[in-house]
Amino acid sequence: MKLNFFAVLCFSLFSLIFASTSFAADAHEDLTNTSAEKCGKCHETIYEQWSESLHAQSTALKDPIHGTFYRAVVGDPQKENVVTKSGKYPVCLQCHAPEAAKAKTTKLDKKKIYNEGVTCISCHTLTKYKGTVKPDGGLRLGMKAYEYSKTDLQGPMGTENNREHHQKYGQDVVPNGGLMKTSDACMGCHDQRPNANKVSLCQTGAEVKVAGGSSTCQTCHMPTTSKGITSHAMMGGHMKEMVSSGLVLTLKAKKSGNKAKVTVILQNLLPHNFPTGAPFRNFYVKLNAFDKEGKKVWSSTKSHPMKDDKQAMFMYTIGNDKGPSSPPTATKVLGDTRLKPNETRKLDYEIKEKGVVTIKATAYYDLLLNPIKKKFADKLPAHLMKPQIIARAKATL
Ligand code: HEC
Ligand code: HEC
Ligand code: HEC
Ligand code: HEC
Ligand code: HEC
Repeated sequence: MKLNFFAVLCFSLFSLIFASTSFAADAHEDLTNTSAEKCGKCHETIYEQWSESLHAQSTALKDPIHGTFYRAVVGDPQKENVVTKSGKYPVCLQCHAPEAAKAKTTKLDKKKIYNEGVTCISCHTLTKYKGTVKPDGGLRLGMKAYEYSKTDLQGPMGTENNREHHQKYGQDVVPNGGLMKTSDACMGCHDQRPNANKVSLCQTGAEVKVAGGSSTCQTCHMPTTSKGITSHAMMGGHMKEMVSSGLVLTLKAKKSGNKAKVTVILQNLLPHNFPTGAPFRNFYVKLNAFDKEGKKVWSSTKSHPMKDDKQAMFMYTIGNDKGPSSPPTATKVLGDTRLKPNETRKLDYEIKEKGVVTIKATAYYDLLLNPIKKKFADKLPAHLMKPQIIARAKATL
């Protein structure tokens, strides 16, 4: 027993020394292959937050939604030299697998770091944001929008204390608040992304530019936690509590003759669209009216607002002359009913049914539109298909 304990202790000590010397031996090493796991040895909390985030799941081998589209539009993420229909290196990797893009590979399982997605060094080596539009008007997206260092980490503060820590173990941490503390750290990948027909798929950056204001992406997406650490969880559409924080839903109801007049008020608190991001993100509102026994006497929709109550459906519709189509093939925008930055919208309803006493409104957020859910039903996990309740309101007559 005693001997065993001693052996374990010796082994742990040995691994500790081994681990730290292996790091020290890397002084001024090329950061190209530095895995998040290595940073995580010291930055444990940040590593855990990042591991759970969509940034760590962004590759075609990890994100089931992106993976399904990638295979359909581009090809096999485990093969080398995959090119698009027009013979080009797949642009997707510039944002979804930035380390693979830097190495100009398409075989994402060739090295661990290629499949780490948007990993620590993807952001912490960015030295300069050049913008997503080239001087000649063409686009440079993802990693192409940046200059980056191969040896020096970039930090928001770069205090002497922090730099000494890092120099002791290998790399310098250069102060680069101009990039790390501003939206420039995000815009290369989040500013805009058109499909091959120049139809916009994501345009969070452009939305924010319209809204103006001085809040950065970090203000909301990287809050400082109680431990004094900037959160790297990057919550967004996959976390209903986060989604909920951007929307205020209120309800007003009054009697008007034999009818009830109801107004739903929806306020977007964000400097970008609600919802923003991927073109199939959407939300909708359902209303129900009840009598004094609590029996439902009226509903705003019989099935789904997308079918029979379009004013309560907030979505982006892209397609072609024949109607809606999937994002990669769309040739034009057919409609956009998402809430614009900081917009307040009112929806009016008239209820003719008798005996209405209370009205309840519920807002649901959905990562995917129903036609896409149907198309990929057998390929996607159930939890990604389930609408989430993000707000409720109640009014009495
Ligand atoms: C051997 C331990 C160790 C390793 C490994 C390590 N760091 Fe650090 N790092 C520290 C310490 C200690 C600090 C200073 C206190 C703090 O912020 O936790 C620091 C500070 C930082 C800062 C803040 C710099 C600023 O602006 O003031 C950044 C950014 C950073 N590290 C990124 C990384 C990244 C990315 C990796 C992996 C490539 C990494 N670190 C690996 C120990 C480490
Ligand atoms: C190198 C490219 C890149 C950079 C830089 C980047 N992101 Fe992302 N981000 C992505 C990709 C790709 C996804 C989508 C992952 C997926 O769903 O497959 C994503 C997803 C997100 C999400 C969505 C999470 C969800 O639940 O859907 C948020 C929020 C986010 N990023 C915020 C930020 C912020 C804030 C910054 C700047 C501090 C930033 N990102 C910098 C590429 C990047
Ligand atoms: C999507 C880009 C992105 C990724 C990926 C990323 N970071 Fe950061 N990180 C930032 C930004 C931006 C800041 C500065 C936030 C601020 O000051 O508002 C930051 C701040 C930090 C800090 C200093 C602040 C603090 O709380 O101590 C450390 C340390 C750090 N990151 C480590 C890491 C590690 C380790 C990883 C990988 C596990 C990682 N980061 C992944 C963008 C990123
Ligand atoms: C005032 C807080 C706030 C600011 C500032 C903000 N966001 Fe958001 N963001 C949110 C909330 C809340 C959501 C969830 C609702 C939604 O999708 O609009 C969100 C969602 C997102 C998503 C997830 C979309 C998805 O598909 O899941 C991305 C990506 C994103 N924001 C990027 C950014 C970027 C980039 C910036 C800076 C240009 C930014 N945000 C600024 C609060 C904010
Ligand atoms: C300019 C950067 C960029 C490029 C290029 C890019 N994406 Fe994305 N993609 C993102 C970001 C950022 C998100 C997630 C956040 C959001 O919704 O805005 C995302 C989200 C997605 C999603 C939704 C994932 C989910 O979890 O719901 C799919 C699918 C997708 N991308 C497919 C692709 C494909 C396929 C390509 C290449 C043909 C591609 N993307 C190219 C940045 C990019």
